[in-house]
Amino acid sequence: MKELKVAIVGCGRISVMHLASISALPSVTLVAACDVKRDRAEAVAKKYEARAYLSYKEMIENEELDAIHICLPHYLHTKVASYAFKKGVHVICEKPMDIDYESAERAVKLADECGVIYGIISQCRYGDAARLVKERVSSGRLGKIISARSTLTWTRPDEYYAESDWKGTWDKEGGGVVIDQAIHSIDLVNWIVASEPVRVSCSMANRGHKIVFVEDSAEGLVEYENGVKYGFYCMNNYGCDEPIEIRLFCERGSVTFGYNDAVIVYEDGEREELHDDYTSSEVEGAKDYWGDNHVRQIAQFYSALRGECELEISGKEALKTHALVMKLYEIGKKTMK
Ligand SMILES: NC(=O)c1ccc[n+]([C@@H]2O[C@H](COP(=O)([O-])OP(=O)(O)OC[C@H]3O[C@@H](n4cnc5c(N)ncnc54)[C@H](O)[C@@H]3O)[C@@H](O)[C@H]2O)c1
Repeated sequence: MKELKVAIVGCGRISVMHLASISALPSVTLVAACDVKRDRAEAVAKKYEARAYLSYKEMIENEELDAIHICLPHYLHTKVASYAFKKGVHVICEKPMDIDYESAERAVKLADECGVIYGIISQCRYGDAARLVKERVSSGRLGKIISARSTLTWTRPDEYYAESDWKGTWDKEGGGVVIDQAIHSIDLVNWIVASEPVRVSCSMANRGHKIVFVEDSAEGLVEYENGVKYGFYCMNNYGCDEPIEIRLFCERGSVTFGYNDAVIVYEDGEREELHDDYTSSEVEGAKDYWGDNHVRQIAQFYSALRGECELEISGKEALKTHALVMKLYEIGKKTMK
């Protein structure tokens, strides 16, 4: 198997999951780590016997890289990805694609033109619960979905935002609870419903924060071409991160699921239940709310890069949820006082 040389840009919180995923893969080697904060780049470089850089451009010029992992503030995602594409380097980038739709669409086109693979992290699709529900809906066992709903009540107090120079800002993060936290549950519903949103309504508010002005609460209704009505509610003024809950009301049964659990009740009374306890995961960093599904998605990215399969969450695929999230902002921002 050809040895692949890879690098990471952005050595903050989520980088641990990318580094753990790279370490778990045979013949994928981290050769460089970049962060504008020298201590972060150097700490990763030391741990993985790689070279440290402060500039991603310099790193891409100096190293012969097969791929980079982008774990940066949102507004930098497509800028750095596009630089890599033009040098023939494949990219796996954290969600969201960017803070607007146009940059994301341009990046997808550019990756195609440059003949490189462009993957976007949506690791929740790789959880056993989400996979089971997707399979049972796609196989027709539950009949058509009639309605869907999702709820997220998490905690991101002012102290959380005070620690970051980009989170909670419109120009660098692109929003608050929707683009950063609820994006995963919105993505799961959008993926499972698998239809085009035709009517979207949304309201947003900042109800509980004093030092940031992005939305900390949002609710809305998405009406899909196939008739599904999806309502969502999210807020990050709660006292802890409660498990997210997604409900699907279908013709021949109903589903309740989250990141780790799924309960499916069919019309004849039969039940299917699944519990996937990531808190016992051995993967470094996996005990945080994001679980260890990065490992699965990143392995899939490298299999696609080796030509063994199609990339599941390509830029083109990720654009579907990105378009919906951007639409929610277009409408929701107008409702903020
Ligand atoms: N998939 C998930 O569940 C999940 C969870 C958390 C974060 N994320 C995503 O990961 C990304 C990073 O989030 P985070 O929480 O790790 O943020 P973070 O602030 O902890 O880390 C970002 C890092 O990027 C560095 N950086 C900033 N500008 C840079 C530049 N020009 N060049 C090099 N380095 C630069 C910062 O110094 C920082 O170390 C975001 O897109 C976020 O939404 C995803």
